[in-house]
Amino acid sequence: MTDRRFYVTTPIYYVNARPHLGHLYTTLLADALARHYRQRGFDTFFLTGTDEHGLNIERAAAAAGRPVKEHVDAIVAEFKATFAAFGLEPDDWIRTTDAAHIQGAQALWRRVRDRGYIYKGHYAGWYCSSCNEFKDEVIPGEAPVCEIHLRPTERVAEESYFFKLSAFRDRLLDFYEAQPEAIQPDARRNEAVSFVSASLRDLSISRISVKWGIPVPDDPAHTMYVWFDALSNYITALGFGNDARTGFDRFWPHVLHLVGKDILRFHAVYWPAFLMAADLPPPRRVFSHGMWLSGGRKMSKTPDASGRSNAIDLGVLRRHFSNDVARYFCLREMAYGQDGDFTYEALIDRANGDLASGFGNLASRTLTLIRKAFDGVVPNVPPDAPPDAREAAAAIAERFTVQRAVFLAHIERLALSRALEAAWELIALLDKHLSDTAPWKLTGSPEARPRLATILHTAAEGLRHLTVWLYPFLPEATTALWSRLGLPGQPARVAPESLSWQRFKSAVVSDGPALFPRLDKTTIMNDIEATTQPVAAPPASPAPAAAPETGYITIDDFAKVELRVGQVLEAERVPKADKLLRLQVDVGEATPRQILAGIAQYYAPETLIGRKIVVATNLAPRKLRGLESNGMLLAASVGEQGRPVIATFTEDAPNGARLK
Ligand code: MSP
Repeated sequence: MTDRRFYVTTPIYYVNARPHLGHLYTTLLADALARHYRQRGFDTFFLTGTDEHGLNIERAAAAAGRPVKEHVDAIVAEFKATFAAFGLEPDDWIRTTDAAHIQGAQALWRRVRDRGYIYKGHYAGWYCSSCNEFKDEVIPGEAPVCEIHLRPTERVAEESYFFKLSAFRDRLLDFYEAQPEAIQPDARRNEAVSFVSASLRDLSISRISVKWGIPVPDDPAHTMYVWFDALSNYITALGFGNDARTGFDRFWPHVLHLVGKDILRFHAVYWPAFLMAADLPPPRRVFSHGMWLSGGRKMSKTPDASGRSNAIDLGVLRRHFSNDVARYFCLREMAYGQDGDFTYEALIDRANGDLASGFGNLASRTLTLIRKAFDGVVPNVPPDAPPDAREAAAAIAERFTVQRAVFLAHIERLALSRALEAAWELIALLDKHLSDTAPWKLTGSPEARPRLATILHTAAEGLRHLTVWLYPFLPEATTALWSRLGLPGQPARVAPESLSWQRFKSAVVSDGPALFPRLDKTTIMNDIEATTQPVAAPPASPAPAAAPETGYITIDDFAKVELRVGQVLEAERVPKADKLLRLQVDVGEATPRQILAGIAQYYAPETLIGRKIVVATNLAPRKLRGLESNGMLLAASVGEQGRPVIATFTEDAPNGARLK
């Protein structure tokens, strides 16, 4: 990157679902990159936001029984709070319901229209309201099933405006060829090239039947196709077509669009074509990352055969892991352009291996030795340092210089996991140096002092460099370590390339709690197990066709969950499980049922006895801590911590009565 401007965007998120790991990931990737380039003094702007129009959102609001704007406001607030809780710091948050965005999107439409690339016609086809995309008919007259959402598409036959995408075939192919770095990784660019070479049909870009959208300029019976509306956010947020924001001249087209591979076509084909049609330059870079899988399967909110969703719950993630640990894992584990598998076990292994035993241990060993042997003052390499110690130190300094170029090059091409590997090679190098030279054996001997000083100077200097390099990946821990190293300012303000291997200026190090406390896998896994109860009855056959994202299920889906009135007869704590209570509950059957509930931190067992509750009674039995649970009690999950509030009755209801 030569122009020292760094504008990074995430996709704007649909507000028909709550934030999940996929959303978190793209945003933390952007956050890490923004911190890196800001450290290096680039003029940086990090944009994220929410995509709030369209049929699905209209339907989700209807299902929630709220006016659409109220519904989207609530979900946007949750997105913002979640990202803030994970320490993510975007510079701006664009909402497609912002007046300035609406004005800007309409300005873009007019510009494309006035240049002759929009015409009115009639559309008849099949639409997936989750992808917001028309799908090809496979069997004549039959609704094709959306391959992504595995459910039939909907028939749309109405007047529509079309965008002359077909006119851009050659220009798009020239663009991919002239700027191969514009669509990355290469495999994804090849996908775009084949899509464009094969057949480019004009694109329907308005709907009459969708009311929750931006009115088409001069024809308000139509609303804009959500992707035309959504993609334009990248420039409306910079003030294109509106006066409320600024930055278009400063940042466009010096942009990096981060997107999941599922939405590549919109960014690599449609978006550049819309811009070309408006006579605006296409984006400099679109980078497509892989998907998070969970247990080898695509993450989904739909419950599997055991009645659980494999989607990673961000509340659970935050309850058990620090922001830095979660962030490090995501950035380290997802290799360049590939899918990544998310498991809590792998997360704990990385936290304990790479962070606690690796970086954290190197830091604590070094600081402890400096405090013990030099009263906390970082030693310099003394003039009488033994030649072999001096040479070893110089070799390490040299490795750092070489490796820095490697580290920066990986970041430049967005291979962040490779950049981290490069940094960890140096952690291993310093660790080995300490093990080989065993400075702890030298602390008592005055004649070994020059050698000891050389070793510890090198270790401290290495830590100083790594703290700067790793700041974007571990902002909280590196900021703490920086001050423990006695260094002025913050690593957020220091560029990796500005560091030279020189003396610490009278730095006095200090102590503190472990940067990355070791995590106990068994305890954490048990806790996670106990708090992630099955979310619904296990489906008997393949997942039902109704889409969870639309907000609707059928009455038959609902009827599958058997909810009954229960009465708590006995309640006690489960030994060595501080979250679990064991209840005996009368649900109107011959014998009471044993039910385990993760509520022990909020309810004293004795307060529950005699209480009427709601129990899901047809869930498959599950074992927790060796005890079988034969049902699930229902409770509201309140606040960020998910505090349970047990559902109950204000009038008498007989045990076993069904809720429907
Ligand atoms: N609203 C559109 C984007 C419009 S941009 C002009 C959209 N929203 S989304 O909320 O469905 O997805 C946003 C991003 O989250 C996409 O980049 C998508 O790839 C990403 N992820 C959703 N699930 C994911 C995983 N399981 N793993 C990684 N990222 C995934 O699409």
